[in-house]
Amino acid sequence: AGPIGIVAALRQELSGLLALMHDGQPVHIGNREFWVGELDGSQVVVVLSRVGKVAAAATAAVLAAHFGARAIVYTGVAGALAPQVAIGDVVVSTEFLQHDVDASPLFPRWEIPLTGITRFKADAKLAKALAASARTLLANPSFLVGDTVLHAFGLTAPRVHTGLIISGDRFVSTEAESTALRSALPDALAVEMEGAAVAQVCHEWSIPFAAVRIISDRADDAAGVDFPRFITEVESRYSVAIIRRWLSH
Ligand code: ADE
Repeated sequence: AGPIGIVAALRQELSGLLALMHDGQPVHIGNREFWVGELDGSQVVVVLSRVGKVAAAATAAVLAAHFGARAIVYTGVAGALAPQVAIGDVVVSTEFLQHDVDASPLFPRWEIPLTGITRFKADAKLAKALAASARTLLANPSFLVGDTVLHAFGLTAPRVHTGLIISGDRFVSTEAESTALRSALPDALAVEMEGAAVAQVCHEWSIPFAAVRIISDRADDAAGVDFPRFITEVESRYSVAIIRRWLSH
């Protein structure tokens, strides 16, 4: 079996894992650096996809075709959509949808043309294991980031949610846009810019896939301020801890 692919969009989202992988030299393919190695007893390939659906899909295709990845996990941040989801919470995918795909009237809105699919399923076992690992860690969040940071972000009791994550090539940064997404897709927990694209590639390659996203902002008028603040001060420590705990169990 091949390695586990671990992917994020931004360096801040993966810096902790990359720091653990930097012993060797990366493999350069298609303008990406693939860091191959062992992490907590598992063979992994860690890679920065860069931002957006095309960047993420291109990266996933290399993980599938070149590295023969046996599973892929996407990690990073997302904007909250559902009212019960707060900044600092963790969202683990059970399914993915590309909210900016619309080939109607030829195909139903959101359906990926010629696949018949609107919602790509995450791998149930993978999602369950990631959620369990996140729940254990969030039971004591100050262990991860310290009380000062927790208070600065108002992260009193972060929670883990599982459900629909939606992706599109837009950073959602107005209340009007997030309200529109919420009413069009009421069960969407969070929005980001890569997951559903990787889910489509993994579906085509029959590779188990799931995503774990920490909520950095509310996809509203404050998102442009909340997002950079969160990824600098909190994000990497959360995702590294969740991924490592998952790998070691
Ligand atoms: N990732 C994190 N926050 C986001 C937002 N508001 N929109 C899209 N992707 C995001």
